[in-house]
Amino acid sequence: MTPQADYYDVLIIGSGAAGLSLALEVANHATVAILAKATFELSSTQYAQGGISVVLDAADSLTSHVEDTLAVGTDLCDSDIVNFTVSQGPERINWLIEQGVPFTQKSDAKGILHYHLTREGGHSHRRVIHAEDATGRAIITTLSAKIKAHPNIQWLERQIAIDLLTGQKFGLNTSRCLGAYVLNRDTASVKSILARFVVLATGGAGKVYLYTSNPDVATGDGIAMAWRAGCRVANMEFIQFHPTCLYHPSTKAQSFLVSEAVRGEGGRLLLPDGTPLMTRFDPRGDLAPRDIVARAIDHEMKRLGCDCVFLDISHKPANFIVEHFPNIYHRCLELGYDMVNQPIPVVPAAHYTCGGVVTDRDGRTDMAGLYAIGEVASTGLHGANRMASNSLLECLVFAHAAGLDILRQLAVVPPPPAVPAWDESRVIDSDEEVVVSHNWDELRRFMWDYVGIVRTTKRLQRAKRRVELLQAEINEYYSHFRVSNDLIELRNLTLVAELIIRSALLRKESRGLHYTLDYPTLAPMAQNTILVPEPV
Ligand code: FAD
Ligand code: SIN
Repeated sequence: MTPQADYYDVLIIGSGAAGLSLALEVANHATVAILAKATFELSSTQYAQGGISVVLDAADSLTSHVEDTLAVGTDLCDSDIVNFTVSQGPERINWLIEQGVPFTQKSDAKGILHYHLTREGGHSHRRVIHAEDATGRAIITTLSAKIKAHPNIQWLERQIAIDLLTGQKFGLNTSRCLGAYVLNRDTASVKSILARFVVLATGGAGKVYLYTSNPDVATGDGIAMAWRAGCRVANMEFIQFHPTCLYHPSTKAQSFLVSEAVRGEGGRLLLPDGTPLMTRFDPRGDLAPRDIVARAIDHEMKRLGCDCVFLDISHKPANFIVEHFPNIYHRCLELGYDMVNQPIPVVPAAHYTCGGVVTDRDGRTDMAGLYAIGEVASTGLHGANRMASNSLLECLVFAHAAGLDILRQLAVVPPPPAVPAWDESRVIDSDEEVVVSHNWDELRRFMWDYVGIVRTTKRLQRAKRRVELLQAEINEYYSHFRVSNDLIELRNLTLVAELIIRSALLRKESRGLHYTLDYPTLAPMAQNTILVPEPV
């Protein structure tokens, strides 16, 4: 049993926009632990640039935001969820403003200050509120200061959740989620954290690909843990590739994002000879949805055999560029590219996991007591393709909804029973760490080569065979050796890769982000890909 298990009312796994917002929502009424597997700040949220989509302009409307989201999602969005999310937007942004997030303001002709709204692909209005070009950093800085000062919140850095504790797993008389086994990366010890409510806010799985805009923590842990615990996942084939990450060979595997807002403010994609790239592909040109722009770039790079294409905003005044994009401008300059005076080299990279753990409108998963919010979840908002800047909005809206749902049940859900402690008696120290690092590289490379922007059945089958081999090897390794951060992540990434490949093989059409040369058109009926785990 668990003599030294920690206990909280709410265990939140993940310290991005979703996890931090939910913590602040419930902490005045409940004890909360919030886990981050690296530093508290390292998350996709911290990297977010463009901003948050929200209807704030009198010329815009909720209907227009809903219609744009549905169109980009290519008939696979859940329209009730889209309406719900979009209509909650203004209130959620007000909440962030009340917390102190310094969104950029500009004065109009009469000298009155307004929140500046930028534009991104798929949006038919300016509706992206932002804090310069580092919106995520502003959110994390503001919310984490509140979290760290709150007496009911315990924040635990460098603690990685390994697996969920469930009544079913231990044959207990409850079907609820009871907590998680957690590895402390500094002491290398595993403890149980028990909770009445467990929230997965673990973000996406971009690290399954060789080239990604995502930080190292984006290894799909929440999706893998929920799947192993018996929850359904949906639409895993819809991986979004962002069209414009800086191409810089020495930092290629850590692609620096160049925000879509650069195109929103007039930037144009060019071929190496200076010809505009997008005019031949879509009437919306550079502001077409991301799937179309990324595929167009991929097509042109393959056709011309070039390593990158170019993004040019140098026709705009220098002070306009530096004022709108200070973070991007300075980072590019550090790497030797002056965007004020020259086009910068860009390539697509894996950016966003549209699918995930199936949840309802309150963030509830298939398991009682277990919630999933933010990028880890599949709420039905994004369908076959996520519209730019709808992700942070989703984090905020579903953190709020899940928080309210937890508060409603706080008085009636009893504390969890004790569970067996983590068993280390069967394992020894690893003598072959190299296996883990080699398998990481192999996985990410074949996912990039065979399960990328343009797919074929043959390539997917090739990837399926490879992932099965890796899984067998990793599972064997996992059952013999003591767990480490890298091993936990690799086990999860390999499982997520399998779910992506399986889902992609099931979709016999091209829709949104899933494009296959074997089925290049849309099927008449739009259907979600729902995978159901074997009974635990
Ligand atoms: P994250 O912010 O990714 O946080 C995940 C957290 O989970 C981290 O704290 C991590 O340590 C923790 N974690 C994961 N696994 C474990 C585990 N096993 N144990 C313990 N902790 C764990 N979206 C927009 O809407 N607008 C934008 O402008 C925008 N720009 C972006 C720019 C970049 C470069 C990237 C990568 C993404 C961008 N996105 C944007 C997408 C958006 O940022 C993310 O979808 C969103 O921030 C996800 O938030 P989250 O809270 O779900 O997860
Ligand atoms: C960007 O700034 O281009 C990223 C926006 C997003 O992913 O929503």
